[in-house]
Amino acid sequence: MKSLKITNGIKGTVNIPGDKSISHRSVIIPSISYGVSTITNILKSEDVLNTINAFDLMGVKIEEKENSIIIKGNGLKSLKKPIKEIYLGNSGTSARLLTGLLASQKFDTIITGDKSLSSRPMKRIIDPLKKMGAEVESENGTLPLTIKGQNLNNIIYEIPVPSAQVKSSLILAALGTSGKTEIIENNITRDHTEIMLKSFEADIDITKKNNYKKIIINGNKELKSKNIEVPSDLSSSAFFIVATLINKNSILKLKNININPSRDGILKALNLMGASIKIENKKLINEELVADIEIKSSELNGCELDANMSKLMIDEYPILSIAACFAKSPSIFRGLEELRIKESDRLELIRLNLNNCGVECKIIKDDLFIKPTKNYVVNNNIIKTNYDHRIAMSFAVMGTMLDTELIISDSDSINTSFPNFIKSFNSVGGKLIE
Ligand code: S3P
Repeated sequence: MKSLKITNGIKGTVNIPGDKSISHRSVIIPSISYGVSTITNILKSEDVLNTINAFDLMGVKIEEKENSIIIKGNGLKSLKKPIKEIYLGNSGTSARLLTGLLASQKFDTIITGDKSLSSRPMKRIIDPLKKMGAEVESENGTLPLTIKGQNLNNIIYEIPVPSAQVKSSLILAALGTSGKTEIIENNITRDHTEIMLKSFEADIDITKKNNYKKIIINGNKELKSKNIEVPSDLSSSAFFIVATLINKNSILKLKNININPSRDGILKALNLMGASIKIENKKLINEELVADIEIKSSELNGCELDANMSKLMIDEYPILSIAACFAKSPSIFRGLEELRIKESDRLELIRLNLNNCGVECKIIKDDLFIKPTKNYVVNNNIIKTNYDHRIAMSFAVMGTMLDTELIISDSDSINTSFPNFIKSFNSVGGKLIE
């Protein structure tokens, strides 16, 4: 894909697809509940289709309609041994959540993924699952995983890393036990799993104080089906928000965006930078906070964000870094170690590609420093993405501001989270060429 400079700004309204995290959970949780759930506005991207395919292989009846799916669940114990290994493509969320869920089944499963997923750390879920008595085999802590279904024990476990995927994996494993499991978090991470399980009548008790959270799950409770309307994805919106802020003469409206406070750090950070972002029509849909957002071109200031902030917006640092390049002063983003183990080493790819675009940017330990200037001279216009969708979309936004066109390699990766990105971006003034 090529990204060309734009001169007339970003204008209009755009439909942002369904939230990726909530879409995965909207397949997993109804599939292990009793009854029929209709899921509307579900994201039909490669990652979510891989989760749907996994449950299809395990015998769950899933009917696909244009913008929705209907799932007939028959309880956690009704899942069937898949006839072949489960391939999960690029999706870390699918791999980690399904491993927890499959650990308590009566059958063995093998899960595999693409090159990127096969290099991502799974020890962070394997270790606590083993404490519960799970048998998960892996050669060096990465996929492929062989999960040998077992009766699991109840544990008390304090999660050492800030990860909603680890938390959710353990919660799903706990649902397959016959007693109470206690999970403790010392970092705020997205809480979509807890919210959805509560509304499906799981026996889940939550105590919270500042960054501390204790989750007690009693596995002895049947889940009841429920219809879900998936809100639109804030992480996908972020590319449009930043494009609007940094381009002159721009104004954009986004509707029904999930602004769950456990992951709205990008809005907080941009506010701190002086962005004109108006949040309107706040409401709860399926207990998730949703709002419309109006964005206008803004003169941004640089900012310094501490490590706590990274827990609330880990997926948004690539696009926030693009915003920082067009601010009036330097920015420092601290504590980004988790960014190194996403779909790619995002910290390094931000640095490398920004340097190639002529931006003064460096990493010291796990902190990222960006020093903006007025005119960037691109010294290598080929953006390396290592098949990472968020790096590809972030540099598509960077291209709107540069005199030299950017060539974004392996941009097919965008299909993992936002299949219509090019069309949507061009519909509001972008110049992306496939
Ligand atoms: C996700 C959790 C986050 C996030 C990922 C989606 C989820 O990962 O980066 O894109 O749906 O639970 P970690 O749990 O590894 O932080």
